Amino acid sequence: MSTAATDLRLTAADESSADLDALRTPAAAAARPGATPALSVRDAVLEYPDGDNGVLRALDGVSLDLLPGSYTAMVGPSGSGKSSLLAVAAGLITPTSGTVTVAGREITGLTRGERTALRGKEIGMIFQQPNLIASLTAREQLELTVHLDEDATRADKKAARSRAMELLERVDLAGQADQRPHQLSGGQRQRVNIVRALMASPALLLVDEPTSALDRERSAAVVALLGELTRDAGVATLMVTHDHEFLSATDRTLTMVDGRLQD
Ligand SMILES: Nc1ncnc2c1ncn2[C@@H]1O[C@H](COP(=O)(O)OP(=O)(O)OP(=O)(O)O)[C@@H](O)[C@H]1O
Ligand SMILES: [Mg+2]
Repeated sequence: MSTAATDLRLTAADESSADLDALRTPAAAAARPGATPALSVRDAVLEYPDGDNGVLRALDGVSLDLLPGSYTAMVGPSGSGKSSLLAVAAGLITPTSGTVTVAGREITGLTRGERTALRGKEIGMIFQQPNLIASLTAREQLELTVHLDEDATRADKKAARSRAMELLERVDLAGQADQRPHQLSGGQRQRVNIVRALMASPALLLVDEPTSALDRERSAAVVALLGELTRDAGVATLMVTHDHEFLSATDRTLTMVDGRLQD
């Protein structure tokens, strides 16, 4: 594909079905009602110490189910608990009470090591700023996890390389595979960041304000791309955003107010 293609190219709905088939994972087969939720949160309460004896209740009894292949937006005022819910869903913070189940495994009952392992396999995370490593090429960013894994075999590394190239091609970045972050545009960096989160074929994709560093057109493109990848890969995506104008690209919008979710 032409490197002259703009970042908007990724909104095109005319990707060949061969490309999409290559990305399909077993999770896609489960993308139907009645499937095991990719994420179940039950009555999650999260309190932070606040002042001498007080507590700040960031999550106040949140329950949520996300099915494979679904694309959910979460909006709400600053400080309402959106990032806290993502951190709890990712197992980065253990809630004060309540349970979190990812791809059928209750992570609130796991040890820290078990949680980290599950996160690596089942959860992709995308944050506001693409936190890419300056010295690595786009392809190496995607391959990094496998290269850091002492148990990875040559075959694993080879498979990672071909998956990395498939994913880069999927977001029209095959021509930029050997470029480092400073040689990529902001939109291209965010696309590398997005497909990096999909390398392990996770069940759940948690996205915190992916467009806040991008202009309007590129923001719309990123929101649309996340929707396409969600459906292609059968992943459940939960995206925090302040961009209300792009919400029609999602299946559902939840609103967080004072630590409580409203549909
Ligand atoms: N590590 C922490 N220690 C203490 N309080 C915290 C901590 N992290 C978040 N909070 C508080 O929890 C509440 C929810 O914060 P959170 O970051 O989840 O909000 P948010 O909805 O993501 O806001 P924004 O839209 O500004 O990103 C806020 O009152 C915040 O100050
Ligand atoms: Mg936040």
